[in-house]
Amino acid sequence: MSTSLRSEISFARKGAWQKLRPERPREMLLDHIRLREGRLGTKEGCNEGDCGACTVVLRRNGLCQAVNSCILLTAQIDGAELITVEDIATDSALHPVQEALVRRHGSQCGFCTPGIVMSLYALYENTSGPLSRAEVLEALQGNLCRCTGYRPIVDAMLELCAKRPAVPAVLAGERVEGNPAGLFIGDQDRFIAAPKTEAALADLLLSHPDALIVSGATDVGLWITKRLDDPQKIVLTGQIEGFEAIKTAHGRMTIGAGASHAAFRAAIAPHLPDFDDILRRFGSAQVRNSGSVGGNIANGSPIGDLAPCLIALGATLHLRSGTERRELPLEEFFIAYGRQDRRPSEFVAALSFALPAPGRVFKAFKLSKRPDEDISSVLLALAANIENGRLRGLRIACGGMAGTPKRALATETALEGIALDDRDAMEAAIAFLAEDFQPLTDMRASAAYRMEGAKALLRRALIECAMPDVPTRLDAQLMAAE
Ligand SMILES: Cc1cc2nc3c(=O)[nH]c(=O)nc-3n(C[C@H](O)[C@H](O)[C@H](O)COP(=O)(O)OP(=O)(O)OC[C@H]3O[C@@H](n4cnc5c(N)ncnc54)[C@H](O)[C@@H]3O)c2cc1C
Ligand code: FES
Ligand code: FES
Repeated sequence: MSTSLRSEISFARKGAWQKLRPERPREMLLDHIRLREGRLGTKEGCNEGDCGACTVVLRRNGLCQAVNSCILLTAQIDGAELITVEDIATDSALHPVQEALVRRHGSQCGFCTPGIVMSLYALYENTSGPLSRAEVLEALQGNLCRCTGYRPIVDAMLELCAKRPAVPAVLAGERVEGNPAGLFIGDQDRFIAAPKTEAALADLLLSHPDALIVSGATDVGLWITKRLDDPQKIVLTGQIEGFEAIKTAHGRMTIGAGASHAAFRAAIAPHLPDFDDILRRFGSAQVRNSGSVGGNIANGSPIGDLAPCLIALGATLHLRSGTERRELPLEEFFIAYGRQDRRPSEFVAALSFALPAPGRVFKAFKLSKRPDEDISSVLLALAANIENGRLRGLRIACGGMAGTPKRALATETALEGIALDDRDAMEAAIAFLAEDFQPLTDMRASAAYRMEGAKALLRRALIECAMPDVPTRLDAQLMAAE
């Protein structure tokens, strides 16, 4: 196996491998497809990951992933098979998904249709047998249609898949194994690089502390398309062996910084249903396929969804610079708005936390203007032991309530030891949120709304602890039902 660096990306396209040198580090995949390949089926709508008109599929090791090509760097498709809407029909027949949409009148103006087709194509190729309405709606969280309405689109997919045999999914297509050698395109002043090992990443960042680390580019992509940033040195983490690994040993889960939200969700779903639900509402399928756990923490956003959940779970952050590694409690990473405890050349390597032991509950709620594809106005997460009807060992963290994700230390203290049937004590403790947080008013929510929202979310968490059998939520299946 060669270990020398490549100066071109290579990717599979219509059954053949192609080599390509992006015109500049910041070249976006949508521009490559429309402007360089001249394939105009893939549309540009919002150019910020929200509308899904630009959706294409990347196939790696047989698995199809719908991604937003508008916020993906061309170099990120290195080692994958790129599938666009032009590729899925044959000369004589539409793909079954396309045929179903035609039959059910699932398109009017048609602007959204290529993106919708590609999201449904990925779902169709990755699954077998009938699908539920909730599964189809989830695949379409990131695809906006403004004229057809979703009913015929969803019905088309349900009808199509109802007739499929329920055999185990056979992952179609050629196995694309990725490229054996790392990538370095450019020179020492302007480059895009993709190291293959964590050590190579560490070395590169020591030599270029000013380089921009890019994982999924679901944040960075927008800096390029909306702020018109032109980063000169980009280091991609997507090809680092093991950087995306999620492992559980002795009750402790360790998540590599490069793990996608989709992979992380699959790993925690059996252990932490509330965290699963937060991730179900994280962006869209496209955003969860590209975006990474490490990127969501490293960006330091006060409204990132993972940090409050992971802080409530007592997570440890693992950082590395050169050969030096250090660990810190996640909440200590966020110093102030826009400031994190990350040194030059240092990168997020992993996060780890103990899975809650029996008797320890974890609750998390996200308040946003719409259920899907929206950033939180407030997110509240709580972990606690319930011992003889009393709360012990509380950890409560909020997003959207301060300049950083932050623990509610005064509220935790006020709740410690209270009996779950003591409603007066509970209400008195909930009021301590006003000591912990002085939220801001911005375009997402007013300060008063945020405070009332956080109190309501905490009240709901406590009611669920006190009365676990009383239904308090609209179930996703119920929302997705006819
Ligand atoms: C349409 C849309 C919807 C979204 N919805 C949500 C949502 O519901 N909830 C939410 O929280 N966020 C949401 N986001 C924001 C974004 O998807 C997340 O923050 C995501 O986790 C970022 O991960 P990434 O891998 O794409 O990061 P990137 O864009 O690659 O990087 C983000 C930042 O982290 C740095 N970085 C990345 N990896 C490392 C590393 N290993 N070490 C050090 N620094 C690193 C980068 O330099 C950059 O500063 C949404 C974004 C879009 C476009
Ligand atoms: S153009 Fe809207 S998501 Fe890409
Ligand atoms: S068919 Fe017009 S936006 Fe969907």
